[in-house]
Amino acid sequence: DPPNLHMENTASVSRLNCRAKGGAAGFRVAVLGAAGGIGQPLAMLMKMNPLVSVLHLYDVVNTPGVTSDISHMDTGAVVRGFLGQQQLEEALTGVDLAIIPAGVPRKPGMTRDDLFNINAGIVRTLSEAIAKCCPNAIVNVISNPVNSTVPIAAEVFKKAGTFDPKKLLGVTMLDVVRANTFVAEVLGLDPRDVNVPVVGGHAGVTILPLLSQVKPPCSFTPKEVDYLTDRIQNGGTEVVEAKAGAGSATLSMAYAAVKFADACLRGLRGDASVVECAFVTELPFFASKVRLGRIGVEEIYPLGPLNEYERAGLEKAKKELESSIQKGVSFVRK
Ligand code: NAD
Ligand code: LMR
Repeated sequence: DPPNLHMENTASVSRLNCRAKGGAAGFRVAVLGAAGGIGQPLAMLMKMNPLVSVLHLYDVVNTPGVTSDISHMDTGAVVRGFLGQQQLEEALTGVDLAIIPAGVPRKPGMTRDDLFNINAGIVRTLSEAIAKCCPNAIVNVISNPVNSTVPIAAEVFKKAGTFDPKKLLGVTMLDVVRANTFVAEVLGLDPRDVNVPVVGGHAGVTILPLLSQVKPPCSFTPKEVDYLTDRIQNGGTEVVEAKAGAGSATLSMAYAAVKFADACLRGLRGDASVVECAFVTELPFFASKVRLGRIGVEEIYPLGPLNEYERAGLEKAKKELESSIQKGVSFVRK
């Protein structure tokens, strides 16, 4: 039998269980792929999030060590580890939010679509378990290619009869985080004061920053628009090349994933005006600005006025998105 990873010694188990059950203000969160490059810092940051009362860490390798390590942090969340497929259902039972960073990352020279063959099956398996064990949970998909893995999860949920478009979200927050950083650099501002909507999808030309809608209002020269659009669209590749074979963005991704997960949890708690960009399943499948609430996505905002540059970008994005979506859908339907 796999070892018990719950990291609750017998002397404290009943009190911990009481705490885990009693935390009315806290949510139960599962990280699937928790021992990976993203998974570990993501798990650490979720353990620091006061909205989390129970944190389940699932992976097919190395969860005992990661769980033991993180469980020593003196923050509120109770941490439990789950190792291997046999413990997947237990890892998901009762969770409010499931975050999926499981899957292989790119190496230099690869596109995100080159990851499809391995990651599609991983996302399908995890989505099947979610449909069975926590059909009402909010799901945050990080595994690439996001433009195809979100449609895969949607198809699995449709097959299982549990699909709720308000609850399934592809994580595109890293594009927004990058856009805020790069735009702030150009404008000489603090990135925390900048908000750039990024819509479309999460690969190359499907990543569409709306530089005409930056807050605070500002203007760019055509040269700056070209530079920023290219840098934002290729931010992932920039990191893959710098890591030179050792993977893709993990630390900035964990930061972005937690920023997004926190927004989902604040929405679930009932906070007003929680608005972020995410890849949603309506329209169909398109990253938009959305308002997050008690039931997940409560409102999808229209794109707003686009300039000519952005309209041309949108046409390119739509074309590529269509085939990536179809690829994901066919993978489950075939
Ligand atoms: P990694 O290889 O470091 O970690 C992946 C983890 O997934 C490993 O621990 C592995 O054991 C685990 N895993 C594999 N199969 C699994 C399964 N069936 N169930 C549960 N866990 C499983 O990779 P990483 O750097 O953490 O990247 C993970 C994924 O996130 C990649 O697909 C990458 O392309 C993607 N990513 C997405 C974004 C985004 O913006 N959405 C950003 C960065 C990376
Ligand atoms: C990113 O944008 O950093 C991720 O999608 C990882 C990658 O392969 O670029």
